[in-house]
Amino acid sequence: MSSMKILAIETSCDETAAAVVEKVDSDPLVLIQTAVVASQAKLHEKYGGVYPEVASREHIRQILPVIAEALELPLTERDRLPLFQLKDIDYLAVTVGPGLIGSLLVGTNSVAAMSVSTGKPIISVNHLAGHIYANFIRHNYTYSAEPQLKSSLTEYVQLPPQFPLMSLIVSGGHTLLVYMKEHYSFEIIGQTRDDAAGEAFDKVAKLLGLGYPGGPLVSKLAITGDRFAYDFPIGFEHQETLDFSFSGLKTAVLRVVQQEKQPIDTQTKANIAASFERAVIEALLLKTSHALNARPVNDFLLGGGVASNTYLRQRLSTLLAHRVLSVNLHIPPISLCTDNAQVIGAAAAFSPMVATPPEELNAIVRPVLQ
Ligand code: KG4
Ligand code: ZN
Repeated sequence: MSSMKILAIETSCDETAAAVVEKVDSDPLVLIQTAVVASQAKLHEKYGGVYPEVASREHIRQILPVIAEALELPLTERDRLPLFQLKDIDYLAVTVGPGLIGSLLVGTNSVAAMSVSTGKPIISVNHLAGHIYANFIRHNYTYSAEPQLKSSLTEYVQLPPQFPLMSLIVSGGHTLLVYMKEHYSFEIIGQTRDDAAGEAFDKVAKLLGLGYPGGPLVSKLAITGDRFAYDFPIGFEHQETLDFSFSGLKTAVLRVVQQEKQPIDTQTKANIAASFERAVIEALLLKTSHALNARPVNDFLLGGGVASNTYLRQRLSTLLAHRVLSVNLHIPPISLCTDNAQVIGAAAAFSPMVATPPEELNAIVRPVLQ
């Protein structure tokens, strides 16, 4: 096969997403054909986090229209989706975990039904592999901490990541440092022992009364704050471990919020947000730096929702630019950092392509990244 097309589905949390991606043999990167994401963020806002049962029900409402749109089906065909032959599609890919069980099951059952009715093979994908493989997708975005450098790039050539590589996955549910010597060889060398980085952002947003999802809101408020107003703790700052911890930081923020004069004025909130953001990013950079010393690599890949954070992008690119042994940094565009189906298709395209029979397809809350 000189090229393959994959229909990918992602429903692990509160985004119902479908995409068609193509892998051409002669291209080391995956191409996006279509991409659709229906976000439920508005629905969950009033709970200050994802309400699992509401999420599952919304996935059920959204899944068929979202798949139909990704397949560019004419309106007349959309309610006959399970009968549709998926003419140009070679494989179906779906997130099997980690995630909310009720949400995952909507995706896996939909894909099982499509496979039974069309005979197309299913590739099961780990959501975290998706966040890593966001960096193997062709896009016309280039990140540069220095805008003048960016504008001087007349033509941007996106190079595929080179092994051995290291990836930092920072999402709402996970914070991981992964070493890879080749495709699909995931060695977790550091991870959070309590809260995930994104979870900490969401909890602090809630403490400051900012809404959900918290990351972008805390980050926006932090722009006008003083990053050194509060000396918040950096998890495992003086320990050798490559693991992370954010629960002490969250508790420290809670204490400050309780001690401040109520209601807390906007500038104080901005100072808390900025100091908190600095503590999270310092912890991520500190462990990244130690990990790179322990395991030299060619390339470093960022992934997950928190990878959209501007301060993290800037600080990480400065850190890597100043290392003696050069490391190429890959940062996906924001649309490929937060949950989407393109990255699930990309992870499937580089997988060993072992099909899961539809009757064995399951949702797994905590699968091993392998
Ligand atoms: O990868 P993702 O979309 O879903 C999971 O797999 O969990 O990550 C969502 C997380 C949320 O916690 C959200 O607050 C965080 O990513 N996030 C951010 C930013 N944008 C999203 N955190 C910090 N700064 C941002 N700009
Ligand atoms: Zn995610």
